[in-house]
Amino acid sequence: MLLNDQQELEAKYLMNTYKRKPVAFARGEGIHLYDDNNVEYLDFLSGVGAVCVGHANPAVTRAIQEQAAKLIHVSNYFYIEGRGELAQRLNALLNEGTTTANNAEGNFSNNWKVFFANSGTEANEGAIKIARKYGAKYLQGADTVISARRSFHGRTLAALAATGQPSKQESFQPIPEGFKHVDLNDISALKQALNQGAGGVHVCAVLLECIQGEGGVYPCTAEYLKAARELTEAKGILLIIDEVQTGFYRTGTHPFAFQNYEISPDIVTMAKGIGNGVPVAAIAARGIAGSVLEAGDHGSTFGGSPLVIAAANATLSELERMGIGQQVSETGEYFQKCLLELPGVVEIRGKGLMVGVEFEKAIAEQVVAAAFEEKMLLNNIGHHIVRFLPPLICTKTEIDILVSKLKKIVTNTLEQAQ
Ligand SMILES: Cc1ncc(COP(=O)(O)O)c(C=O)c1O
Repeated sequence: MLLNDQQELEAKYLMNTYKRKPVAFARGEGIHLYDDNNVEYLDFLSGVGAVCVGHANPAVTRAIQEQAAKLIHVSNYFYIEGRGELAQRLNALLNEGTTTANNAEGNFSNNWKVFFANSGTEANEGAIKIARKYGAKYLQGADTVISARRSFHGRTLAALAATGQPSKQESFQPIPEGFKHVDLNDISALKQALNQGAGGVHVCAVLLECIQGEGGVYPCTAEYLKAARELTEAKGILLIIDEVQTGFYRTGTHPFAFQNYEISPDIVTMAKGIGNGVPVAAIAARGIAGSVLEAGDHGSTFGGSPLVIAAANATLSELERMGIGQQVSETGEYFQKCLLELPGVVEIRGKGLMVGVEFEKAIAEQVVAAAFEEKMLLNNIGHHIVRFLPPLICTKTEIDILVSKLKKIVTNTLEQAQ
């Protein structure tokens, strides 16, 4: 019994950092997962938004198998196959919709330079290091990073300091200094924060998610993100967009969510969808920000190793082959329309296949638990919000199955909550 064995072993030998659901998954295929008794689950969480082209995607699996048979790891002291090409592909995706190539080093360059990391947290940690060094060099020592309340940027100390959720920081004092939080979508608060210190020179970067994922699926307004870009650009302050959750067509049409807002950040951090579940992440920076880090400034033993590069290249090829942007945009719109039929809903937020439903009553945990009993994997954020992050290959048929069961679940849960 895989589940019982694992529950026993993990209780004894693993740190108790997760409240796991009582299921042990043995394999997956597309949007489905299968437990140790071969019971099928409909996966509307995709490993928290990572498995974008589906479980056991044949092309990605083949690429990993072939690469594993050739070379898994050599360290960053050497050149390997595919890394330059992957960075070149990211460059093209980041510039999608940009008509002119500008390879100069100045702030308006759109030649993105990439550092490969292992997780979203690490990508943000690296971006913060770039911002600090940039601030020291070009902004008279400005060292403060502004981010939004309710944001999530990761669990290492600096990424945690940037995360705008005090409850996650409380046990780990002292949290590193040089971080300040403002309310999302409040342009005047941002303006004020940027103007503190003589001429605003204390701030080296603004770090934002286009849609706050872990915070509860709260999007930036178009006006806010445009203002953030204009205000930072005017002062030479870096704009870092955290695309760890929103990247790689999660929000439909475009590869990155910032492209929905017609702005161009200085730094973009990404992870999750880039490797279809294989741990690979990246920091991309353009212009001066792209050449701030020099040899010896930053590094990683595993970052950008042959195995993950092969997985990421295969994932990007799959996304391209499937024309996934258009598909996600259509299924996402359909999904939101279907979710409107649920009772007790206050608001539906998000874009593409990153969707949050806020309920009037505190029923989110019960809804997720009941969905689990019905073999559907969802996730709740707090007591009111249910979040959906299905694989991007999710179809309207699967949405219909989910929503029809969900209608009954929510109706029953609301009745019990009376
Ligand atoms: C926006 C965002 N940034 C950073 C992270 C941290 O990424 P990771 O868990 O890969 O370290 C997450 C994880 O959910 C995220 O959603």
